[in-house]
Amino acid sequence: MNTSMPTSLTSDARAILKQPKVTKQAVDSFHQIENPRHRHLIRTLVQKIHDYVQEVELTEEEWLYTINFLTKTGQMCHDQRQEFILLSDVLGISMLVDEINNQKDINQTPSTVFGPFFVDKMPIRNFADSIVVDGEQPETPLLVKGQIRNTKGEPITNAYIDVWQTADNGMYSGQDPNQKIDNLRGLFISDSEGNYAFKSSLPVSYQIPSDGTVGQLLNYAKRTFWRPAHIHFKIAAEGYQTLVTHLFTDNDEYLGSDAVFGVKEGLIVQPVLKSADEASEKHFGLKKDYYLIGYDFILTRS
Ligand code: BEZ
Ligand code: FE
Repeated sequence: MNTSMPTSLTSDARAILKQPKVTKQAVDSFHQIENPRHRHLIRTLVQKIHDYVQEVELTEEEWLYTINFLTKTGQMCHDQRQEFILLSDVLGISMLVDEINNQKDINQTPSTVFGPFFVDKMPIRNFADSIVVDGEQPETPLLVKGQIRNTKGEPITNAYIDVWQTADNGMYSGQDPNQKIDNLRGLFISDSEGNYAFKSSLPVSYQIPSDGTVGQLLNYAKRTFWRPAHIHFKIAAEGYQTLVTHLFTDNDEYLGSDAVFGVKEGLIVQPVLKSADEASEKHFGLKKDYYLIGYDFILTRS
C-alpha cells in the first residue's frame, strides 16, 4: 500500500496530517470555551507545547525534570518574592510582551521590564525631596529632574511618579532587612508645569537573585546575573497609559549584557557633575557639588 502523502499538500497541511491523534484531541477538547480570545490562547498553547514535545522527542525523565523545576519555582514564591516573574524576565518573555504591547507611538518614552521589586503605596514626597531615608545623605548627591509631557508637547500636571532603586549594596528595601521599606523609594507628583525632581544617590549595577531555580538555570547556562545600574519609574496620569521604565546610567559595563534584556537606547542617560550655586540651593536644596540627570518623560493617551 502506498502510504506517502500527496505531493500537492502545503508543509502546514503535512504537519497537521502527521500530528499524533492525542494532539488533535487535546486541542479540540477546549473548543467549548466561550470567550473566543481565551479559546484561542489555550488551544494555541496546547498545540505549541505538543509541537515542542514532539520536535525534541522529550523523554519521560526530561518531562519529570521540567515539572519538578516548575514546582520548585512556584515554591520559591511568596509576598516578597516572585520567582516566576524572574523566570519570565531571564527568558526574555517579559520584554517580548512589553514590545508587543507598548511603544505604539514612536514619540513616547520607551518602556522596559517592571521587575519584581516594586512596592506600592510608598510615601508621597515633595518636589526635590531625597529618597535616601536610611543613614547619611550621599557625599555627592544625584539630582534627577525633568518634565512629564504628552506626545503633543503639553505638560501633564498631577502625574504620579513612583521611583525605586537599590542601595549601594545592590539590594532593594524589602529584599534587605537592614533597610527601611521606604528607603530609596518614593512617590512624587508633577507640579502645575509638569515638572518633577528628586534627590538620590548614583545607582549601582547589581545581580538579580541567584538562590532559586532561575539561579540554577543561569548558572547552568553560564549566563550573567548582572543588571546595569538603573533607577525605576512608574508614571501614571489620568487619561494616559501608565509608563513603566528605567533610566540607565551610561558607561556601565553591563549595558550590553543585561540579564533581563531590558536596556533600550533612549533610556541611557549621562549624569553630569555640577557645582552648587544659588539656584541649586534655592530650588533643590543642594549646597554642594552634585550629579544631574535631566530627563523628560513623554506619555501617550490611553
Ligand atoms: C529589577 O530591575 O529590579 C529587576 C528586573 C528583572 C528581574 C530582576 C530585577
Ligand atoms: Fe532594578
